[in-house]
Amino acid sequence: QLLFASILAAAGTVGLVKLHAAAPSAARVIEISGNDQMQYSVTAITAKAGESLKVVFTNAGTLPKEAMGHNWILLKAGTDVMAFATDSMMAKDTDYIAPKHKDKVIAFVGVQGPKKSGEVTFTVPAPGVYAYICSFPGHFMIMKGTLTVK
Ligand code: CO
Repeated sequence: QLLFASILAAAGTVGLVKLHAAAPSAARVIEISGNDQMQYSVTAITAKAGESLKVVFTNAGTLPKEAMGHNWILLKAGTDVMAFATDSMMAKDTDYIAPKHKDKVIAFVGVQGPKKSGEVTFTVPAPGVYAYICSFPGHFMIMKGTLTVK
């Protein structure tokens, strides 16, 4: 009887350990939308280094994707945003990310048409300030924000 009880107790402990181990992998969700006025709904995000974030990005507008598509691109610290965006304007086939600047992207959601969503899950990088932009031609000067990592 006693032995049986201790086996049950041991099994219970193992179960608990498994539950606790699974919990930290859940990402914090950040919902961002872009509209026909070239505005992001969120222009500042604060996070902790090493945290898992899931960005769900929605194009809330109604204009056609070819005229008013939006993406969400988080860039490495120190990236020349102007150079990145200028070179990426012609890179329609790669979600307006110029292949030569691919290495400057931490995470991104590709170009979304009206009422479409995409998402990306990533690990928050080291403390610092990171820019995010929409690289659809002509948008990056207005459609931008920052991720501040503490
Ligand atoms: Co845009």
